Amino acid sequence: MTPFFDINASHIELAEELSSAFNRVMKSGHLIMGPELSAFEGEFARYCGAKHCVGVGNGLDALALTLRAKGIKEGDEVLVPSHTFIATWLGVSMVGATPVPVEIDPSTYNLDPRAIAAKLTSRTKAIIPVHLYGLPAAVDEILNIADPRGIFVLEDAAQAHGATLRGKNTGALGHAATFSFYPTKNLGAMGDGGAVVTSDDELAEKLRMLRNYGSSIKYVHEVAGVNSRLDELQAALLRIKLRHLDEWNRKRRAVAAQYAERLEGVGDLSLPFVPEGSNHVFHLYVVRTKERAKLASYLAEREIHTLVHYPAPPHAQGAYAALGLSSSSLPLATEAANEVLSLPMWPQMTTDHVDAVTSHIRSFFA
Ligand SMILES: Cc1ncc(COP(=O)(O)O)c(C=O)c1O
Repeated sequence: MTPFFDINASHIELAEELSSAFNRVMKSGHLIMGPELSAFEGEFARYCGAKHCVGVGNGLDALALTLRAKGIKEGDEVLVPSHTFIATWLGVSMVGATPVPVEIDPSTYNLDPRAIAAKLTSRTKAIIPVHLYGLPAAVDEILNIADPRGIFVLEDAAQAHGATLRGKNTGALGHAATFSFYPTKNLGAMGDGGAVVTSDDELAEKLRMLRNYGSSIKYVHEVAGVNSRLDELQAALLRIKLRHLDEWNRKRRAVAAQYAERLEGVGDLSLPFVPEGSNHVFHLYVVRTKERAKLASYLAEREIHTLVHYPAPPHAQGAYAALGLSSSSLPLATEAANEVLSLPMWPQMTTDHVDAVTSHIRSFFA
């Protein structure tokens, strides 16, 4: 049996360190907004190459709180990729603004900067490029369009901790970046968690207030904020895992290289494309085929577990029916949703697992 992902592998590897962090936090009696959070925020900001990290409850809150801190509200438009996890769009909806989809570049699955111009209006206040599957989006090209117009560029880096573009880490590519520490992410907590990373002092200060009931001094509430904090236990566990992130990402890339070697030229499969200057961290290893449904069930019958990220684009979900966007208006997102298939991927995945997956795929197409 080859699972899609082995959540326990990293925890077994680090069991002693994680247990001692748990004990340290338990004995400290400090469970919310304490020294572990401050330490993690400093360490993760440094890791990304940015000035600030603000821990929050999850990646969706990170998106919504950042847009809110930038004053984005009802009547504003935010450009988002047509193909992404729905949370990117939901963050925009949470502040009352309208998500406006921009088609993807089908070779990278990321927002295509060439498709932005046609979507800009006087109401466009932000663009959210998503580093989908672990590949950095073309943030430099997006900034070239956004900066002269005063448009805010927020990286959705939920799937790309540690990925780099021309030597710079995700988190330091746009004006700010949001991360999710959902357990299966490349850097995952043992529960929900998220963060915003930025070098903008004013934005970081607003976020620190917003996440904590709109307060920076106890019982003084300057704005109507929310409760969305990264707790001490998650911060302590993330500090340990952060030290292993680069090594885990290297292992993911090694698995991806084995897949590429064994699957090149097989059937009609398209394999992940990594543009020059990009360092992909393979949160997901996504292939593409017109035979997606048949291939997935053939593999399932042979105990190889795959998933689809994502089977329907956000515009086709009931949540966005009111936008009235037809699938024919977003053909690239629609085609991707019909054809993508995520193969098993986790850092400790063995060559035997890769061989099992790839030999069954080869026999399917033979
Ligand atoms: C691209 C993307 N954005 C945002 C999120 C939201 O993160 P969370 O699950 O922590 O709310 C996720 C993950 O689930 C994601 O994959």
